[in-house]
Amino acid sequence: MKLSEQERNERTAEARRLIHWSKEEFDSDQKLLRGQPPLVKAQTSETVVPLTREFGGLAMENDFVKILQRRRSNRVFTGERMTADQLSFLLWATQGVKGIRGNHYATLRTVPSAGARHPFETYLYVKSVEGLKPGYYHYLPMEHSLELLREEDPEKKDSAQRITDSVRGQKWALRANVIFYYSIVPYRGEWRYAFNAHRVMMMDAGHVTENLYLACTALGLGTCAIGAVDEEVGNGLFGLDGTEEYIFYAAPVGTVSDANEEQEQAFYAFLKEK
Ligand SMILES: Cc1cc2nc3c(=O)[nH]c(=O)nc-3n(C[C@H](O)[C@H](O)[C@H](O)COP(=O)(O)O)c2cc1C
Repeated sequence: MKLSEQERNERTAEARRLIHWSKEEFDSDQKLLRGQPPLVKAQTSETVVPLTREFGGLAMENDFVKILQRRRSNRVFTGERMTADQLSFLLWATQGVKGIRGNHYATLRTVPSAGARHPFETYLYVKSVEGLKPGYYHYLPMEHSLELLREEDPEKKDSAQRITDSVRGQKWALRANVIFYYSIVPYRGEWRYAFNAHRVMMMDAGHVTENLYLACTALGLGTCAIGAVDEEVGNGLFGLDGTEEYIFYAAPVGTVSDANEEQEQAFYAFLKEK
């Protein structure tokens, strides 16, 4: 059902509130001494794949200025070899745990987070990564390992359609070696900040994907943030309830080549038409 212009404007005004930090006085659940939610989601599968924390052997650009200059969105992937060690680096660079603050009060990670709440979980659809079976995974940041939720042959009927639907028809994502899906667990932030949590949690999401961009660039891989996810399809892929945890962001990652620049530019052909 299409909204009227007035309804659209009302919804827009309502959404703007998210960007304001409310000055209303309130007690958060933390202040009320209510139990803190778990820092990370517990493991549910028995099949765990340990990941390396040794990144010295990876071919990597180390010139930070070059990395910043080269950072860009890539939507054309070549389908070449990508390794589990490269994936391990990307997971560590985006959500890796470097320490614990206090008596299990917070995780300290490779990205900052308001109040160190780190309200995200990382899920993967692995299509083609050397050393990993194709399928659906969940990252365990404390152990720096992956749990296999479900194997899936990428050639399986409907598999490609579900992935395409999860990113609202953006078919180019299918050519990635792996797709990162990020969920949010809102209560992790709300416990501390109540209705002011959502504003800063969205800021946090930006840190995660920017690190993904930079880490991909350093490895010579490509990625593109995807805000246009279909939450329900994404939740279905990873068995999330849609209330206490839901998929809200994605980022396909794959091998890239300068030779595909023309195809990359074709995504912006609409500008020429204008
Ligand atoms: C929050 C966010 C959501 C985005 N969502 C999409 C998306 O759904 N589809 C897409 O093709 N690009 C998406 N992008 C990529 C932007 O279009 C891209 O960053 C922008 O055009 C600038 O290009 P650059 O990253 O190459 O500098 C998104 C980027 C961000 C940061």
